[in-house]
Amino acid sequence: MTTTPEFSASFTQNEAARTDQERAAILADPGFGNHFTDHMFLSEWTVDGGWADPRVVPYGPLQLDPAAAVLHYAQEVFEGLKAYAHADGSVWAFRPEANGARLGRSAARLALPELPVEWFLGSIRALIAADRDWVPSGEERSLYLRPFMFASEVFLGVRPAHHVTYSVIASPAGAYFSGGVKPVSIWLSENYARAAAGGTGAAKCGGNYAAGLLPQQEAFEHGCEQVAFLDAAEHRWVEELGGMNLYFVRSDGSVVTPELSGSILEGITRDSILTLAADLGHGVTERKVSIDEWQGGVASGEITEVFACGTAAVVTPVGRLAWNGGEVDASNGEMGPVTAAIRSALVDIQYGRAEDRHGWMTRMV
Ligand code: PLP
Ligand code: COI
Repeated sequence: MTTTPEFSASFTQNEAARTDQERAAILADPGFGNHFTDHMFLSEWTVDGGWADPRVVPYGPLQLDPAAAVLHYAQEVFEGLKAYAHADGSVWAFRPEANGARLGRSAARLALPELPVEWFLGSIRALIAADRDWVPSGEERSLYLRPFMFASEVFLGVRPAHHVTYSVIASPAGAYFSGGVKPVSIWLSENYARAAAGGTGAAKCGGNYAAGLLPQQEAFEHGCEQVAFLDAAEHRWVEELGGMNLYFVRSDGSVVTPELSGSILEGITRDSILTLAADLGHGVTERKVSIDEWQGGVASGEITEVFACGTAAVVTPVGRLAWNGGEVDASNGEMGPVTAAIRSALVDIQYGRAEDRHGWMTRMV
């Protein structure tokens, strides 16, 4: 039995850090997931020693033995959260303890060790402090943080790894979709499921995304940007997109999101919108939503808006839903008023323009 010591990270300056000019050029148009800051966080866990050697070091390639278990059995989990620069120069993260708790649940499902939430918070705080100048300011801009944990043991037997690596990297980000905030088109995956009951759908593990790539490619081939998945048992109940949860706005002004089924990722944006939509006076329900309800509801006008939500994509209107043999469009090519109001309520809190009534923001530096 080992105990994890109190968090305190060492720091090694990157002597090859980008110049102010190079950084400014990147921050002027960061896109999503293209650029990384000058430092990264690292710590390793062993069965005997627990978590050790927390450190912020120059960003760079990891050395992995070809027999590292993650490369063979995908024992890996990750998180995604954002830090925002406020007008007074302070930097804040949105509900980071919820991401820390979810990393813990994902790790437990993948038989990876628990990382104390204080270590999770300490790791992102230490990295943001080192790379404060990389937090972009401006509309839709943020520093996207990607904590991840993987089996680094050199061993090909199939069992939970005895050596695990935890890291955090950071990436200045603009809008997730290159077209900015406009309706995305969705392909309905009828042949592939993302996750099944008892599987890993509720965990944020790399394998779920690998399984979604082929259907995602199918979506591209049908001229759609994202793919929607149904439940694996009945192929009837709407679950989520490859990397976002879904909401439906009904003609009576109420909003509905698919209930957590055990195979849906419990999105922190999804959870926040349950609260924000109620604050805005909407009736809010979590329940099963059938694909017939989506297709028929948009066609009949019963469903007036559809939107997707997640850390990377924030709140993104959904337009066309296409499937083999038909399509409907909920958007008229624009973001609907309820989607826009919910989006504003969320981003105004994140960027410090509205009061943080629910205590969601945590100051980082
Ligand atoms: N569903 C999936 C599969 C995701 O990858 C994400 C993104 O993190 C979400 C939903 C939304 O989760 P969150 O709002 O916590 O970012
Ligand atoms: C996120 O929104 O943080 C995600 O993880 C979605 C995607 C970039 C994987």
